Amino acid sequence: MFESKSGVLLIAGLFFFGLAFVSNVVVPVIMYRDLPEKTALEVVNGNLRYQFEDLARRYPEEFKKAFGEPPASETEQQKWWNEKCAEALLAGRKIYVGEGCWHCHSQFVRPVSNEDKRWGPVSESKEYQNELQRPVMFGTRRVGPDLSREGGRRSNDWHAVHFFEPKRLSDKSPMPGYPWLFDGSPDKPNRRGLVLIAYVQWLGSWLESYPYFEQYEQSPLKDIPLAETKPDDAAAK
Ligand code: HEC
Repeated sequence: MFESKSGVLLIAGLFFFGLAFVSNVVVPVIMYRDLPEKTALEVVNGNLRYQFEDLARRYPEEFKKAFGEPPASETEQQKWWNEKCAEALLAGRKIYVGEGCWHCHSQFVRPVSNEDKRWGPVSESKEYQNELQRPVMFGTRRVGPDLSREGGRRSNDWHAVHFFEPKRLSDKSPMPGYPWLFDGSPDKPNRRGLVLIAYVQWLGSWLESYPYFEQYEQSPLKDIPLAETKPDDAAAK
């Protein structure tokens, strides 16, 4: 068998197939056996809640049209905000996928080329163990910056204007505008616009170093009651 070139290639091919199967299937399954996949509700955290409630304050009419109004009782209100946040994340991810944002943006900070100096902490596999990463949005091209630590870097109204027409904020930006996420002007984001902003604000919001990804300081945000979280969550601290 080893006398012919094709025999050697066959054996090598089978070997590498086996190696890929072990490294991409067997090893991850063993690593994450005890780490259950989090639901959208479980990944809602205080940082995201702050941004989401900020959307409600900035765009009250549009927000009401998209999500309705919080209930009167204080305890039900907390539950309501968390649930709406989770709903927005799932819907926002769909817009991100549908609009092809991943053609130009990655969501993975690699441990090479000093990427962490530019975009924040190197991505860890446990960050992808949740409902919003099915499938993951790693991306293969970076026409624009990596977005995995975008949360908290910009304000909600910055994102609104930028999504409406990127050139208004970033001269000569090749990013297309998404005016259909708005009712005519950047101060009127519709439901699709609001959920996309929420989704982008979520990226990286689980990190302890949020929103000072490169120069960490403790987040000044106050504690907000949350859905069940794991102790290693930034928000649970
Ligand atoms: C044609 C490629 C392209 C597409 C498609 C694209 N972007 Fe961009 N994006 C860029 C480039 C280039 C920049 C940097 C210049 C700028 O700020 O506009 C950028 C910047 C951004 C920023 C600002 C990052 C920062 O903090 O400076 C965000 C957020 C963003 N894009 C989100 C999105 C989302 C969400 C979508 C899908 C709705 C999208 N982009 C689609 C190319 C693209």
